[in-house]
Amino acid sequence: MDIALITESIETLLGGVVLTLELTILSLLIGFGLSVPLAFMRASRSQWLSMPVLAYTYVFRGTPLLVQLFLIYYGLSQLAFVRESFLWLLFRDPFYCALLAFSLNSAAYTIEVFRGGIQSVPPGLVEAAQAIGLSPTKIRLRIVFPLAFRTVLPSYANEVVGMIKASSLASTVTLLEITGLARKLVSETFAPYEVFIAAGAIYLGLTFLASRLFNLIELHLSGAPPD
Ligand code: ARG
Repeated sequence: MDIALITESIETLLGGVVLTLELTILSLLIGFGLSVPLAFMRASRSQWLSMPVLAYTYVFRGTPLLVQLFLIYYGLSQLAFVRESFLWLLFRDPFYCALLAFSLNSAAYTIEVFRGGIQSVPPGLVEAAQAIGLSPTKIRLRIVFPLAFRTVLPSYANEVVGMIKASSLASTVTLLEITGLARKLVSETFAPYEVFIAAGAIYLGLTFLASRLFNLIELHLSGAPPD
């Protein structure tokens, strides 16, 4: 094992961190935005609202993210309404294909995370809010969601770490994020061992930082003094 080569590889691969973070953060944000209304639909007593969301999470959690990415990357261009509209400009770019696949996938996992949180809010609190005349939307946004969010923070941190790692799949559609750069570097150096150790180390650094960040947020929300 060539330690110097590992250090050199780390330097080269750090060039992919920005793209990895862009893909991860944007898909987490879009996934989050989609998942909040959908999680309320999923937790609703009406089957008309919950069933479509159930089907969505079933499909996106039950199939590999790699397959979803390939279907979007190779499949969208087959659809006439995509080929003949502005969507084509977007989805012929692998970045947007990856972003779409990751966002839809992350939304599916996040819906399940939030559903648990929403259902854990004591019904008495909702009834109290109804009794003082708050509208159903206000109750959801001001009372149920903040409480649910606090409860599910550790599970949501898992999702963040999961997406950091899952973003490596973007390398299969030509994107040069950390893993993409690593694969390129291997084809130049023929030293897969050193290069992938370097790639792994960078991911470890990123997931460590993400977990630390969530620990701090948790402490902050619990009102305890930081350690
Ligand atoms: N290995 C999983 C898959 O192929 C990764 C999914 C990760 N997604 C997530 N949102 N945490 O489906």
